[in-house]
Amino acid sequence: MRTRIGSHGLLNLVSRVLDMLLMYHEARLASTCRLAMFGRKAMGQQKAYIKLMNSVATPLPSMHDRQIAIWLFTVAGFVMLMVLVGGLTRLTDSGLSITEWAPIRGAIPPFTTADWLLEFEKYKQIPEYQLVNMGMSLAEFKFIYWWEWGHRFLGRIVGLVFFIPFVVFLVQKKINRAQLAPLLALFALGGLQGFMGWYMVASGLTERVDVSQYRLAMHLGLALIIFAGCLWLALNYWRGEKGQGRFGKKSVVAAIIVGGVLMQSLLGALVAGINAGKTYTDWPLMDGDFIPSGLFDSQPFWLNFFESHLTVQFDHRMAAYALTALIGWHVVHVLTSNIGGAVALSAKWLGGALVFQFILGVSALMLAVPMALGAAHQLGAVALLAIAVTHLHILYKQAI
Ligand code: HEM
Repeated sequence: MRTRIGSHGLLNLVSRVLDMLLMYHEARLASTCRLAMFGRKAMGQQKAYIKLMNSVATPLPSMHDRQIAIWLFTVAGFVMLMVLVGGLTRLTDSGLSITEWAPIRGAIPPFTTADWLLEFEKYKQIPEYQLVNMGMSLAEFKFIYWWEWGHRFLGRIVGLVFFIPFVVFLVQKKINRAQLAPLLALFALGGLQGFMGWYMVASGLTERVDVSQYRLAMHLGLALIIFAGCLWLALNYWRGEKGQGRFGKKSVVAAIIVGGVLMQSLLGALVAGINAGKTYTDWPLMDGDFIPSGLFDSQPFWLNFFESHLTVQFDHRMAAYALTALIGWHVVHVLTSNIGGAVALSAKWLGGALVFQFILGVSALMLAVPMALGAAHQLGAVALLAIAVTHLHILYKQAI
C-alpha cells in the first residue's frame, strides 16, 4: 500500500525519495515473492532463474578474448592431431626409426641417397632392427622413418602455433600479467613433452625392441594434460569468464570424471605399450572367465600392474566398467535434475562419447587391434576427455 505526503517543496522531495524507496522495496518484495512462487512451482525454474541472473551478471567476452580463445582452440586441435599421429607412429612400429634427438637440425629430413643410407645405418645398430626387422629394405625403412619424422615435425609446428601468436598477443598487450602464468606453464609443458618424447624413444634404443610402457604412458599422459589445460583456458577466454567459478556438487563429480578419463587413458597406454590388446581377445569374458586366474602371478607383486599382459588388460577393462558406471550415474542425475541448457547438452554428449569409446575399445580388443581401430580408440579417448573438460567447465562456471 502506498502513502502520499503533502505538496510542500522539501516535503515533496522527501516524499518522492520515500516513494522511490518504497517502489524499490516493493520491487524487491515482488522478486522475492516471484522466487517464492518459483520455489512453490518447481525448484528447476528457480535454478533457471538463478542461471539467468548469472548470465546477466557474467561479462561478455571481448574481441581480444575471442581471438585468444580461437588461438588456444587451434593449439588444442593440433595437440589432438599430434596424439593421433603419435598413435599411428606406434601402431606402424615406426617410433624407433630415428635414433637421435636433434630439435633443430632434425627438422630437415634426409634428401640424398647417401643421407638415407646414413640414417638407415644408424637404425641397423639398434635391437629392433637386429631382432625384428633384419633384412628390411631401404623403402621399408623410409616408410617408418617418415612416420616418426612426421610426428616430430608436427611437434615443432605445434610449438610454433603456440609461440608466434603468444608473442604477438603479448606485444599487442592483449594478455595481461595475471593471464601470463598459465600460458607460460602451458608452453613449458610443451617443451617438456618434446623432451619426454625423446626420453621414451631412448628407452627402446639399447636393450629393448619397443619403447618402455612406463614412458609411453608418461608421454601420452602429458599430452592429455596439455590438451585439457589448453582447452580449459580456451573456454575461459571464449566465455569471457577467466576468473569466476566455484565447485558445486555436480562439478566435483565432473572433475572426478575428468580424472577418471585421464587415469583410464594411462592404463590404456600400458595396454598399448606391451601390446596386451593383442592377447585375451575374448569379451565380455577374459580367458574364459570374468575374473581370469593368474592375475597376480608375477613377483614382485606390483609388477603385475605394469608388466603382466593379463593384469594390465584386466585393469583397463575394470576401469572402463567403473568409469561407465560413474558417467552413467552422473548423466542420469544431471538429466533428471531439470537444469537443461548447456549443462544437459554437454551431459548428453558425455554419455554418447563414453558409449562410443567403449564400443571402439571392445571392437579393437576383439579384432586384436587393427591399426585403424587402435588409432580411433586413442582419438576417442581425447574426444571423451575434451567433452568431459567442457562439461566440467560449464558446471564449474555456473557453480552447480
Ligand atoms: C571407457 C573408456 C576408455 C578409455 C578412455 C580408453 C582409453 C584408452 C587409451 C588412451 C588407450 C591407449 C591408446 C594408445 O596409446 O594408442 C587405450 C588402449 C586400449 N584400450 Fe581402451 N579405453 C577405454 C575403454 C576400453 C574398453 C571398454 C576396452 C575393451 C574391453 C578397451 C580396450 C583397449 C585396448 C585393446 C587397447 C590397446 C590398443 C593398442 O594396442 O593400440 N578400452 N584405451
